[in-house]
Amino acid sequence: MNHFEFRASVLHPKGVLHAEDVPLPAIADAVGTPVYVYSRATLTRHARVFRDALAILPRVHLAFAVKSNPNLAVLKVLAAEGYGADVVSVGELDRALAAGIAPADVVFSGVGKTARELRRALEVGTGQFNLESEEEGRELAEIAQAMGLVATCTLRINPDVDAGTHEKISTGKAENKFGVPYDRAAGIYARLAVLSALNMRGIALHIGSQLASLDPLEAAFTKAGALMREIRGAGGTVTHMDLGGGVGVPYKAGEVFPQPAEYAAMIARVTADWDVTLMFEPGRLITGNTGVLLTEVVRVKEGAVHPWVVVDAAMNDLARPAMYDAWHDFSAVAPTGEHMTANIVGPICESSDTFAKARDIDVVTRGDLAVFHTAGAYGATMANTYNSRPMVPEVMVDGDKWAVVADRIEPSTILSAERVPSWLE
Ligand code: LLP
Repeated sequence: MNHFEFRASVLHPKGVLHAEDVPLPAIADAVGTPVYVYSRATLTRHARVFRDALAILPRVHLAFAVKSNPNLAVLKVLAAEGYGADVVSVGELDRALAAGIAPADVVFSGVGKTARELRRALEVGTGQFNLESEEEGRELAEIAQAMGLVATCTLRINPDVDAGTHEKISTGKAENKFGVPYDRAAGIYARLAVLSALNMRGIALHIGSQLASLDPLEAAFTKAGALMREIRGAGGTVTHMDLGGGVGVPYKAGEVFPQPAEYAAMIARVTADWDVTLMFEPGRLITGNTGVLLTEVVRVKEGAVHPWVVVDAAMNDLARPAMYDAWHDFSAVAPTGEHMTANIVGPICESSDTFAKARDIDVVTRGDLAVFHTAGAYGATMANTYNSRPMVPEVMVDGDKWAVVADRIEPSTILSAERVPSWLE
């Protein structure tokens, strides 16, 4: 459920799309397009539904996957809902801290944490490092030792389970770069646990994103549980199990995805005798449906088969269709009730800048506003300035209030950071 709704009026009997109480044309008029629009009520609701579903488990730590939407205002809302943060860079760490998330509630994930990043994360008191290799553990131990600190860690395992999602967002198969091989994990854990600068307290795993089924998660968690028993059997300590994120959300109207309550019930069953703090790193489930990308139709161009609807948003603003063949529902902000079949494309000079092909959509014409739905996760955060386009701005709505929460960065600002060396003058 989200708070993007069509509200009808005499002028628009089919309705005008609102974010909470704000009509989207008001935002387009004031800020211009393309622009991401987030609904605070939706964000809060998703954060609470997930948290409340997991309340059936004894000890839980929630670390929002910052990469899915690192906007400071978004992080503020989630911090107020009791979420910690799962970060993968010092940039994300600094954002989490700026939003008021306690360093102790931060989990530092990522396969390539640099020495500089490890040092900085230790300095600020990061709560947990999810180690992706024995090499990383040894390096962290050396750095922590030199600083007179102890780093609290889990070891990320690669359970070799197929998440059944898009190949580019699968992370738990042996051929993926993440974690340590399952059958070597107990040995690595034992070798890292003897290092005095490390406090090895558990296992972490994350097998992929946009999972449509709970079965691969259950298979992976079951394997992690067996490893936990093996480590404990050998005299090791396991007090924390980080089960990652990955639960998918519907992108097409009518699709059915696992509900947080079903996820929680499966976890309760699998982990009944674990006696650990369970940690979670949800991203998309919290932020996916909290945002839309608002865009304007530049023109409709005749096509060989279907017309080309050229919008002013492009693959630099929303990369998911180009990168993962992802589907985002498209609707006119003020639909007439008529439909057409069209291709939806952006202005960028490559064919991958295609949002939809031969799609049945609301009839739109030059100057009309439209949205791509479910753009709150992995939307603005993956934007760039390819083709020297502006960096897309972000707006948050809260009831009848709204505010720009990230400015549009103009190409002139980016240009001003570039230098021509004197030997080219
Ligand atoms: N934890 C770790 C270690 C992760 O790598 C990720 C996502 C998450 C948690 C959160 O996963 P989620 O709950 O959001 O599925 N850009 C892609 C998705 C990449 C996901 C990367 N890792 C997309 O647009 O679909």
